[in-house]
Amino acid sequence: MPGSEAIRELVAACVGKVGGPLVALRKIVSAHGHIDDEHVGIVADVFNLSLADVRGIVSFYSDFRTTPRGRRHIRICQAEACQAVGSRRLTREVAEALGVELGATSEDLGVSLEAVYCLGLCASGPCATVDERVVVRVTREELLR
Ligand code: FES
Repeated sequence: MPGSEAIRELVAACVGKVGGPLVALRKIVSAHGHIDDEHVGIVADVFNLSLADVRGIVSFYSDFRTTPRGRRHIRICQAEACQAVGSRRLTREVAEALGVELGATSEDLGVSLEAVYCLGLCASGPCATVDERVVVRVTREELLR
């Protein structure tokens, strides 16, 4: 993971770009895996924003993680069409089998389980992503492999 100076350089390279703070935060997530308080401070400093401004951006977008992600990352769609074909039940079963609550990462960072709200494949639900790979008509067994 990059250190503070590397993060500062990464953020500084985004100054002057359209949506600079958003671009910088996305780059932090790509490089570091999540955004911590130090990163918020760096973005605020480099873009001359308040900490509250940057925290507001981070909290608005679900892709801006503030906690470490598991080595295996599962997101199950919780939007209406997937709910109608059992995504909530599937989520409960997977959470129970993995021993991880929705929105949490296991203590050993082995797996994280999160909600996602519509992947644009509503006719093929329930849908999920596993390590960024989209899975349609997903089953409990597929998610627990
Ligand atoms: S509701 Fe799940 S993919 Fe659209």
